[in-house]
Order: sequence, then structure tokens, then C-alpha cells
Amino acid sequence: MKQFKDKVVVITGAGSGMGRAYAMAFGQLGAKLALNDFDAKGLNDTLALLQAQGRTTVVSRAFDVSNKEAMYAFASHVQQQLGNAHVIINNAGIEGSTQPTWQTDERDYERVMQINFFGVLYGTKAFLPQLLANNEGAVVNISSVFGLVGTPNSSDYCASKFAVRGFTESLMVELEQSPVSVHLVHPGGIATHIARKASGQAFAKHYLKTSPDAIAQHVIRAIGQKKVKIVFGHGALKTWLGATLLPLRWFNFLAWHELKHTIDLAAYKVLSKRS
Ligand SMILES: NC(=O)c1ccc[n+]([C@@H]2O[C@H](COP(=O)([O-])OP(=O)(O)OC[C@H]3O[C@@H](n4cnc5c(N)ncnc54)[C@H](O)[C@@H]3O)[C@@H](O)[C@H]2O)c1
Repeated sequence: MKQFKDKVVVITGAGSGMGRAYAMAFGQLGAKLALNDFDAKGLNDTLALLQAQGRTTVVSRAFDVSNKEAMYAFASHVQQQLGNAHVIINNAGIEGSTQPTWQTDERDYERVMQINFFGVLYGTKAFLPQLLANNEGAVVNISSVFGLVGTPNSSDYCASKFAVRGFTESLMVELEQSPVSVHLVHPGGIATHIARKASGQAFAKHYLKTSPDAIAQHVIRAIGQKKVKIVFGHGALKTWLGATLLPLRWFNFLAWHELKHTIDLAAYKVLSKRS
């Protein structure tokens, strides 16, 4: 798909960060938008920004993407209000643990998998029939650089993003001969509010650097070019190269060493200001 004017674009997690940036960017291209987030306030803020931009064709619904029935009900609602969807961007996601596996509760894994993986699965399955009925469309699933390499203290998040990658790569092959393109996005460090836990914020400050608008524009161009694998954002190319070329043990040693260095440096800066 190259042209998005009057096309129906569905975006999950549109109340913040990259989801909001996709909404603003597709809005500017004249798309009709169907937006979700479980944070009703964030979703309303996005709607207000779109209104200020002069966009009116928007439907929205606040629900949890891990609720299968709610996702299918949303798909019916979108179809009734706007017609069949052309693009589904399965973007909603949460951060994982910042602890090693043995300190991370099984319930944390279940919650992260429910949202980051099953949310993507339900969004894809609920909207795919509409894309196929339109005879054109794009499924855009958001993984992460943590879907390229397993890193310490994030095994729940990595597991969920590897699951998105495996699922999406399978779908890509299944739909190869169809009019629907499938895109797998591995963002690097994007400056959003995903790192809500205090323990993740030092990392966020030093790593989440690329603007959400930049990745939204890049992904939209990539959909037009039928680029199936999209690696973009701070540190993403380096991670992709490392994950592709280096043995895992060496890659993790280097990445972890660099991260530890960043945290040490941050701690040093705080301490030196105090003294
Ligand atoms: N920020 C990064 O550096 C980065 C890097 C790689 C991948 N990602 C992925 O990109 C996606 C977007 O994240 P972001 O960085 O914009 O974060 P963000 O926290 O700014 O936005 C995520 C949005 O998803 C919503 N959300 C979370 N759980 C939900 C649920 N169960 N149902 C509906 N909405 C839900 C949140 O309310 C929020 O508005 C996520 O899948 C994230 O894992 C982010």
C-alpha cells in the first residue's frame, strides 16, 4: 500500500508514544482512524491532538488488547462505522521485569505475554478478514530489538517480543501470495514513556533517544516499499548486526558491558553532583 487517504487504519496503544505518533502521521495523510488504548485518558489526549490537526473521522475504544472478546467487538464496531480496515498496527505493549529470571514471578510472564504477544495475535486475527476482503492491506506488528537478542533481566519482555517475531515471520510467508503485506518492526530506543518502573528509568534516559515521529514516518515509508523487516531507532542497527553476526555469548557480554557502563556513569554523575 502506498496511498493512505480515506483508508481505514487501526492502531492499538494509540494513547501514548509510538501509537500516538502513528495516529498523527496517518491522520496527516488523510486516513480514517480506529484507535485503541486501555488508558482512556491517553486515548482522549490523542483524540484532542487529532482534532486540533483538523481530523474528524476517528473511532476509538478503550479496552485491554489481551481481552479477545473486546478485540473482536472492536473489529465489528470499526467495520460498521468506517468499513473494512486496510491497516492494523499492533503496537500496544508494556515493559517487562527488570530482574533476573529467578526473581521474576510467573504471573509477570503471563501478563507480559498476554499483552505483548496475545494482544498482537488477537489484533491480527480479528482484522485480517477485513484486510483480505478489501483486497489490499498491511499487518504491522511491533516487536523490538529485544526480539532479536535475549538480554539479561528482561526474559519476560524478550520472550514476548520473540513470540511476536516468530508469529509474524510465519504469517509473512503464509500471506506472501496475497494482497496483504506483513511487516515486522524492531524498534531500537525510542523516546516514549514505556519505562514506567523507576528501576528502568536510568536505562531509559540513556537509551530511548529516537523520536516516535521519526519511526512512525519510517514505518509508513517502509509499508509503501513493502519492506517486511523494519529495524529502526537508537542502537537498533548495531543490535541487529551483533545478533546476526556474533555468537550470542559474545553479543550479550558486549551489550551488557555497555549498559553497565552507562548505568555506572549515571550513578557517578549523581554522586559527583552531591559531593
Ligand atoms: N520505546 C522503545 O524504545 C521501544 C522499543 C522497542 C519496542 N517498543 C514497543 O513499541 C510499542 C509501543 O511502545 P511505546 O514505546 O510507544 O510505549 P508507551 O508506553 O508510550 O505506549 C504504549 C501504549 O500502549 C498502551 N497499552 C499498554 N498495554 C495495553 C493494553 N493491554 N491494551 C491496550 N493498550 C495498552 C499504553 O497505555 C500506552 O498508551 C510497545 O509494543 C513496545 O513494547 C518500544
